[in-house]
Amino acid sequence: MRFDIITAVPELLESPLSHSILKRVVDKGILQVFIHNIRDFSSSKHRQIDDYQFGGGAGMVLMIEPIVKCIEKLQSEREYDEVIFLTPDGDLYNQNTANRLSLKKNLIILCGHYKGIDERIREHYITKEISIGDYVLTGGEIAATVLIDSIGRLLPGAMSDETSALTDSFQDGILSPPVYTRPAEFNGWKVPEILLSGHEAKIEEWRYQQAVERTKERRPKLLKDKD
Ligand code: ADE
Repeated sequence: MRFDIITAVPELLESPLSHSILKRVVDKGILQVFIHNIRDFSSSKHRQIDDYQFGGGAGMVLMIEPIVKCIEKLQSEREYDEVIFLTPDGDLYNQNTANRLSLKKNLIILCGHYKGIDERIREHYITKEISIGDYVLTGGEIAATVLIDSIGRLLPGAMSDETSALTDSFQDGILSPPVYTRPAEFNGWKVPEILLSGHEAKIEEWRYQQAVERTKERRPKLLKDKD
């Protein structure tokens, strides 16, 4: 799978790709991430990429030309499944969207910055708008790392235990059950007996019950959405 990230602040994207599971998927070639600096597509002497908004108002707007040049260059090189714009007014991101996007081959992700991007880019190039939550970030870069991380870990070969992505919170539409590791007792606090019993079927049943209980308690709407 290939991501092409278009950003005004490439530095914000470098570290998350250099560690842990994401580093592994990138090193294995399962995931390719290319970062494109919008400034490299500016035709102005000072590499300008933003300007004041027409009609007045606070905040700079990312200009149409450098972004269009970058998108069109990429599109001339290969087919893209989606051109995604990260923005607080996009569709709310969830595990379902991550699952669906993990099946795609080539994605462009455009990160907004400052006040936003010229609306004509959204009208003519963007195929999908995504928000990672109802709050405003300084730009789309952190949101892009959320997408890359949540999608990258789903790709075949990303996890050492292939089943572990399947048992994540949200993967069945419910939260995960509690987990424990050694020691079986710490400060007098004991691990639930059932987990030490070796009885696989009963353990599965217990985990499922716990997951349902936890979901009822913390995120009841998830259970309603399942029905
Ligand atoms: N850019 C700024 N805020 C954002 C959000 N909540 N989700 C996605 N992109 C953003």
